[in-house]
Amino acid sequence: MRRFLPYGRQDVGGEEIRRVRDVLESDWLTQGPRVPEFETALATACGAAHAVAAANGTLALWLAYRAVDLGPGDRFIVPATTFVATANAGVMCGAEPVFVDIDPDTLTLDVARTEAALLADPRIKAIVPVHLGGRTADLPALKRLADRHGAVLIEDACHAIGTRWQDEGGAWHRVGDGSHGALTCFSFHPVKSITTGEGGAVTTNDPELAARLARLRTHGITREPERLERQDGPWYYEMHELGLNARMTDMQAAIGLVQLRKLERLKRRRLELVQRYDRALARVPGLRTQARPEPDDTCWHLMIVRTEARDGLHAALAGAGIGTQVHYYPVHLQPWYRRRFGTGPGQCPVAEAYYRQALSLPLFPTMTEAEQSRVIKAVRRHLAPGPRTVVPALAGADGDRGPA
Ligand SMILES: Cc1ncc(COP(=O)(O)O)c(C=O)c1O
Repeated sequence: MRRFLPYGRQDVGGEEIRRVRDVLESDWLTQGPRVPEFETALATACGAAHAVAAANGTLALWLAYRAVDLGPGDRFIVPATTFVATANAGVMCGAEPVFVDIDPDTLTLDVARTEAALLADPRIKAIVPVHLGGRTADLPALKRLADRHGAVLIEDACHAIGTRWQDEGGAWHRVGDGSHGALTCFSFHPVKSITTGEGGAVTTNDPELAARLARLRTHGITREPERLERQDGPWYYEMHELGLNARMTDMQAAIGLVQLRKLERLKRRRLELVQRYDRALARVPGLRTQARPEPDDTCWHLMIVRTEARDGLHAALAGAGIGTQVHYYPVHLQPWYRRRFGTGPGQCPVAEAYYRQALSLPLFPTMTEAEQSRVIKAVRRHLAPGPRTVVPALAGADGDRGPA
C-alpha cells in the first residue's frame, strides 16, 4: 500500500524539539525571552526595523488593522481569492470589506480594478493585497494607488515569508521589508513555508505602529512610565484602548527561531520542486500554472494548477493516494458574506472562474523526487493519456527519469 501524500507538510526536526524542551524546562512558557529573540531574527530576515509576533496570522492581521484604526465606517480592499481571515479580521474591527477581482495570471489583486474601487468609494482606508502562493502582488502599483488615494497598504504575506522580488528599476525587495506595505502580516501555520505550530507576526519600519501593535497584543495595556496617568507603583499598568491577548508563546518562538535559520534552504527546495513541476507539466493540454516572475526568487508556498477538468483530476489524484487542496472558494461567495454584505456571484468573475479550475498539488520541502514523479505521472495519466513521456529530473539531481 503506497503512503498517502499530503499537499503540504511541515519540516520540523530534532533541533526544534530540543529548543521546545529547553523552554518547557525554563520559567517562561508564555511570552518570555524567546519571543523578542524571534522578533529580532524575523525583522532581520525580512529587512524590517520591527517585528511583532502574534498567536497566529489571523490575529496578526487584526493587530495590523487596529494599529491603523480601521474601524466602523471604514472600508478595506481585499482580493476575492484569499483565505477568509484576510476579510474576517477587518470585519472584527467593524470595517466593511470591498472584494476586488484578481489578475488571471498572477492570481493576486487586480490593479485596474483596485483603482476603480478606490475611485468609486472614498471610505476605503486600506488596501490589503494577498501574495497568493508566495508570489507578490504588484506592490509598486498598489503603493502608488494607496498614496494617491490616502489609503494604507497592508500586505497579507501569510503565504510569502522568504519571497524576494524585483521592482521595475531592478531593485530587489524582501517581503516584509516595509518598502511598500506599511505593515506586513505573516502566518506560521504548519502548511506555510516555516511554522511555529500556530503563529503569526507583523513587520513594520514605523516605531509608533510597532509600539501600538505590541500594546494591542496585550489587551491595550501599557506600563511605559511616560504614558501612565498615575505612578502608583511597580505593579501599576493602564489600559488605554481595547486589545486582546494575541501573544505568541516562548514555545512557538523557540520553534520559529530554528525554522527561520532553515528558511533559505526550505525556499530553495520549494523553488526546485516548482520549477520541475513547471517543466514536467508544460505540455499537458489544458493545464495552466500560476505566472512566475522572471527572475524568480519566490518562496513558493503553493503549486497551483488550473484545468477545466479540476474535479476529475482531484478525484483521480485522491484515488492514487495524492492529497490536493483548493485555494480558495472566493470569500464574497461565502454564505455569511452574502448574507451580511449582500455580495454574490458575478461580482468577481475572474476569481469565480479561477475557483472552478484551481487545484493545489503537493508541495513541501521534504517531498522526494520520487514522490513528485508520482504526482506528475498521475496528473499526466489523467489529463494526457497517450504515449509514454519522460519526467524531467530535479535541476542538478540525477535519476528518476522513468517513463510516465
Ligand atoms: C492568505 C491568508 N491569510 C491569513 C491566514 C490566517 O493565518 P492563521 O491560520 O495563522 O491564522 C492564512 C492562513 O491560513 C492565509 O492563508
